[in-house]
Amino acid sequence: MEKDRLIIFDTTLRDGEQTPGASLTANEKLKIALQLEKLGVDIIEAGFPRTSPGDLLAVKTVSKHIKGAVICALARATKKDIDDAYEALKNARQGRVHIFLATSAIHRKYKLRKAKDEILKTSIEAVKYARKKFSDIEFSPEDASRTEPDFLAQVVEAVIKAGAKTVNIPDTVGYSVPGEFGAVIKGLKDSVPNINKAVISVHCHNDLGLGVSNSLSAVLNGARQVECTINGLGERAGNAALEEIVMALKMRKDIFSGIMTNIQTKQLYKTSRLVSRLTGITVQPNKAIIGENAFSHESGIHQDGILKRRDTYEIIRPQDVGFKGSKLVLGKLSGRHAFSERLKDLGYQLSGKELDQAFIRFKALADKKSKIFDEDLAVIVEDELSMVREEYKLINFQVTSGNKINPVANVELEKDKERISASSTGDGPVDACFKTIDKAIGLKGKLIDYKVSAVTSGKDALGEASVKVAFGHESVIGRASSTDVIEASVRAYVNAVNRFSLRKKKLR
Ligand code: KIV
Ligand code: ZN
Repeated sequence: MEKDRLIIFDTTLRDGEQTPGASLTANEKLKIALQLEKLGVDIIEAGFPRTSPGDLLAVKTVSKHIKGAVICALARATKKDIDDAYEALKNARQGRVHIFLATSAIHRKYKLRKAKDEILKTSIEAVKYARKKFSDIEFSPEDASRTEPDFLAQVVEAVIKAGAKTVNIPDTVGYSVPGEFGAVIKGLKDSVPNINKAVISVHCHNDLGLGVSNSLSAVLNGARQVECTINGLGERAGNAALEEIVMALKMRKDIFSGIMTNIQTKQLYKTSRLVSRLTGITVQPNKAIIGENAFSHESGIHQDGILKRRDTYEIIRPQDVGFKGSKLVLGKLSGRHAFSERLKDLGYQLSGKELDQAFIRFKALADKKSKIFDEDLAVIVEDELSMVREEYKLINFQVTSGNKINPVANVELEKDKERISASSTGDGPVDACFKTIDKAIGLKGKLIDYKVSAVTSGKDALGEASVKVAFGHESVIGRASSTDVIEASVRAYVNAVNRFSLRKKKLR
């Protein structure tokens, strides 16, 4: 394979946001986009403007501030969708519209109720219409991997002729396996006469856990753009993980003969943490590349090998993906300067206000915890960055519990400068607090998931609580940290309530 460059198309803010339970405000999308720009992605798919005013605003906001990457908006093959994408991307330095229409037999028959010739005609018309507004057009035959090869080739040829500069081949339901998917790409290269006039892209879902493998197989067969997400977020089982694709190319240059990306791999860990915090979706500890265990060695034999020579059991240097081990950094007497310098070393750039807030949190933590580690700082800062507007603010809570009494909680919240308080019993102190918050705000939340974990070791470790709560059909995630796990849990629940009310406003 010739030396070449692979375009990294990040869809964390679009397909990634379709992860059940993940929802981002325009401001949160901008924070992630700024980090993706630092990471060096080529294209940021920022949303699907026609689906909601909130998403249109988000794409507009990202377009206005990000100048180092192409900004892309998704559209169905309709004039209205393309018009909305244009409106959202007006201020982008370079905007791309990504038009999709399903081509597989199952989608044609049951979802679209359209015959092949109608699909072909609609695709061509949509691309021709988009050409009046965009110079950069991408077309996706949705469910391409389950489409008859000759029809897929026909659609691809037609949309390139109509003006598409990128043809994206999605494995929409993650059904393909690597050899087969690579052959689809090779088949298109061999059979579509004008294929050299467009970049071949792939977009692989992970339903069989093969999203990354299928993407890499496509690259070996000529694809030069991959669509992927941070932490592998995305619809259902997610999309191919950006960090895994990029590191596979970097570590296995022998296989991918010099195919390069623009990604600054040292930014991977930080990007992953930010996305996890803002979407509320935790990263599994054994996740490749950026999971907390990716660089821990448990067995004695492995530890011995590592001490003798690191690459006996470690193929990636942790620092190459921006992973920093536990390090004692600051304590009670550390000042604002040392605090802000350490954050800079860790790669966080905070606004003056964010720094002030984070410093207050740091001082409060240092009062309770003698040794503060980098991980503690990361949690404090990421908490600040992921803070949603607090419609409900926790003022005070008290809970009494024991093995012989019914737990009782009192909670005081503030909304629009008014205090609301309530009291309730529950099955345990945490349940009593959650029920009391429900009572105070007049909503009924169903706790779907609840986790508490220690950020570092020791009895005074910072505890991080995360909750997943369903309010009716909507489920939201909330997170918070404190050295007191009940306080962390209460704050996480209030955070979930605030995310829910923000989401309701966004959908309005
Ligand atoms: O999975 C898919 O097919 C998509 C398209 C919109 C590209 O997300
Ligand atoms: Zn998708």
